[in-house]
Amino acid sequence: MLFDFVLLDKLRAVRHIAVFTGAGVSAESGIPTFRDAQTGLWANYRAEDLATPDAFRRDPITVWNWYAWRRELMRDAQPNPAHLAIAQLQRLVARVSVITQNVDGLHLRAGSREVIELHGNIWNNLCSQCSQPAHRIEGAQEVQTRCTHCGGRLRPGVVWFGEALPAAAWARAAEVLEAADVFFCIGTSSLVEPAASLPRHARSCGRTVIQINPEATSHDEIAQYVLRGKAGQVLPELLQAAWPQNS
Ligand code: OAD
Repeated sequence: MLFDFVLLDKLRAVRHIAVFTGAGVSAESGIPTFRDAQTGLWANYRAEDLATPDAFRRDPITVWNWYAWRRELMRDAQPNPAHLAIAQLQRLVARVSVITQNVDGLHLRAGSREVIELHGNIWNNLCSQCSQPAHRIEGAQEVQTRCTHCGGRLRPGVVWFGEALPAAAWARAAEVLEAADVFFCIGTSSLVEPAASLPRHARSCGRTVIQINPEATSHDEIAQYVLRGKAGQVLPELLQAAWPQNS
């Protein structure tokens, strides 16, 4: 892929890069994106119908079974070249902040140090009553396990549809937006608010917005640069082009 020389010069000069990611950045690790149809037993379910407080209240067993299935999908997943390239940026730029909608934990496993998990982390549990974090007990029937503080039922430590994002994570994302020079928007359909508003806000703050996605999204029109392709291919090539001596 050929890159605009102005973009490459800008990347070499910046001090702070923000990287906003969605499920597409984990697609090459074998984790289906939300827009991919669900498979197997879950083919007739929509994420929007399972990842909600109401669904959990009505049928906690089905919701827990769905998360156990998703954890199983993610268990053997490895960081792919996109995650690794984002982590490698830390050796090339003074500060790299990752703001992710993903709950798979792969940015942390790839070595990214500043990771803001807007939608939580599927590997964590918390109490559905008092929100206290709860240790995961391998193999335990989590739907039966109770909170040691209040006796409430445990739930996965992720944000559900209709819930507010964690205030601390959102505040950190806003700070990054104000501070970063360049804002990458990678592997997201930008359909779910409020996360989807971040690239628009970055542009309105005067940041250089770079979109990486094999398909067009509504954010193409706000990005100064649209790199059409898979993140696992585009990002390593972009680092090689911008920092040939270090990549
Ligand atoms: P989506 O499944 O909505 O979108 C995935 C995006 O990744 C699409 O735009 C694809 O074109 C793109 N894509 C696919 N393969 C790619 C690749 N190899 N490289 C780069 N991009 C690729 O996932 P999200 O945008 O992350 O919310 O969805 C956002 C939120 O909606 C999720 O966090 C979740 C979901 O409902 C909650 O769970 C609250």
